[in-house]
Amino acid sequence: MKTIVAYRSKSGYTKKYAQWIAEELGCDIKEDPELSDILGYDTIICGGGMYAGGFNGGKLITKNLDKLSGKKIALFAVGSNPGREHEMKVFWDRVLTHEQQGYIGCFYLRGGFDYGKLSAADKVLMQMLKLRLQSKKERTEDEQGMLDAYDTPVDFSDRENIRPLIRFVLE
Ligand SMILES: Cc1cc2nc3c(=O)[nH]c(=O)nc-3n(C[C@H](O)[C@H](O)[C@H](O)COP(=O)(O)O)c2cc1C
Repeated sequence: MKTIVAYRSKSGYTKKYAQWIAEELGCDIKEDPELSDILGYDTIICGGGMYAGGFNGGKLITKNLDKLSGKKIALFAVGSNPGREHEMKVFWDRVLTHEQQGYIGCFYLRGGFDYGKLSAADKVLMQMLKLRLQSKKERTEDEQGMLDAYDTPVDFSDRENIRPLIRFVLE
């Protein structure tokens, strides 16, 4: 079975997971893939960061499912949120229909947040979010954690997190 890990990563967290997965499976890996890069594979693992509730790079798969029929597909999203089941369900329901979730593997791998590594455009977006969070009278634990992370980068990535995805791909 020919397998590839295809990914997009803005600040390196998805890249780290993609490298761990490719190492574990001994398979090919491609950053910023085009459709032509993945068509020749039987198993496609596609990863990207979560940005404002969206899936960076996910469209490569979701817009081309008709051309990928018969292939085994696993998606992994990397965000800084703690990965609560009900919150991730909302995310995956935006990315895939229920029927698609029946045969496509969906995995959340917690990454981190490093303000210093963001592009200028993302810095502007995050400054706006920061102002909004600062102006709130009461913040949830997650919101306070987000505010703290502007000053101190956080990294929750852990190689062990890839286990369920690896099992899905090998089963
Ligand atoms: C503009 C912006 C929006 C973000 N939105 C989310 C989000 O909706 N949910 C989440 O869990 N993380 C969010 N994050 C955090 C990133 O998903 C996190 O840093 C992730 O590890 C980035 O992976 P990457 O460096 O591989 O792109 C956001 C980060 C930025 C800069």
